[in-house]
Amino acid sequence: NNGNDGALTSWSVGIEALSNKQVEVLGDLRVQGDLVFTGKGQAKLLRLQTAASAPAKCDNSMTGLIWFSTVDQILYVCAGGKYHKLANIGPPGSTKDNPGASCLAIKQADNKVVDGLYWIKPAGQTVQAWCDMTTDGGGWTLVSSVHEDNIGAKCNAGDKWSSTKGNSSNLPAGDGNWQNTNTFGGVTGAAKDDFKSQAYFELKAKDVMLYHVPNGTDVSQYRAKALLRYHTNNGFLTQYGGTLYSLFKNHFPIKFGGACNDKGPAVPVVWDKGSNGGIDALLSPNTKAESTPGYVQFRVFNHEKACLAVCPGIRYDGCNTEHGCIGGGGWFPEGAPKQCGDFSAWDWDGYGTGKSWSATKALTEATVFFLYR
Ligand code: G3P
Ligand code: CA
Ligand code: CA
Repeated sequence: NNGNDGALTSWSVGIEALSNKQVEVLGDLRVQGDLVFTGKGQAKLLRLQTAASAPAKCDNSMTGLIWFSTVDQILYVCAGGKYHKLANIGPPGSTKDNPGASCLAIKQADNKVVDGLYWIKPAGQTVQAWCDMTTDGGGWTLVSSVHEDNIGAKCNAGDKWSSTKGNSSNLPAGDGNWQNTNTFGGVTGAAKDDFKSQAYFELKAKDVMLYHVPNGTDVSQYRAKALLRYHTNNGFLTQYGGTLYSLFKNHFPIKFGGACNDKGPAVPVVWDKGSNGGIDALLSPNTKAESTPGYVQFRVFNHEKACLAVCPGIRYDGCNTEHGCIGGGGWFPEGAPKQCGDFSAWDWDGYGTGKSWSATKALTEATVFFLYR
């Protein structure tokens, strides 16, 4: 006690072992003055306890206790007998409390993120999203999927992307889901049922990517198991309002009654898995003969003026669009009701035969995914 800084009057700590220049305090460390970290040779100055669940019960005696949750990557502080979330300091998108704006925003915030489930809030609502963080730099948000559960049903409850109420001239726009703000299904079941997220109409994007994912595929395998994957890269969506919702609603409505030569945009795609020859081999041979691979086309009609929403992987040059395009309105006159359904008349000459006007089984039994970036 000579009046100089750092002077010790006495020690009351029993040190059992000193190694690697560390001191372990088994009980409380009580410091009456400031605790000052000089940072000499160490980047981490203060590290709190990390735990999967609260390391101590929060009662009044514990007020001020802070710990870091390894589960939701959030700091908690005990105050007034309960834990409060102190800050969202995990990467954006990792918790519902801390959503990213989109998969692209999450990727931009942390380039190391991998494909999988995240939380996004493109506008009003926070929703769970599946992100492709790999393809062409990543940042793709899964917004919807078109699943054909039973092509023989001809517009029953499973046909949300055409008509769930049968084939009828009274339903020219069908269920209208391409151009309304309904939502259905779930992101983890997108290969098992029709799926439409808020992101379909809320997330503004420049380009779309499509996957053809074998029906029933688990969420962990969407990208790995996809039969085909391809994306646009010319930013075409910007000129149509930034979503497929606005493209259909404001520019190319899904509704019976157009002429076959009134075709919506055919946008060139880059193949990420598959090729022009690959999709040709999966299409019905007659569709192959009247279409061009390497595109995705929106809103076409057929000979009988039925409206189809999307021709995945192709530009449909002919007029029997019901064999190579998906979704649409609720009125398909030719062979009624044979062409009504989410995959329309892909089964015209026999289910999955890959002959004449019928697509192959592999393509017919794969859900079409839509992703935005
Ligand atoms: O789309 C094909 C249909 O219009 C003609 O079929 O069976 O008469 O050759 P089909
Ligand atoms: Ca369906
Ligand atoms: Ca036809």
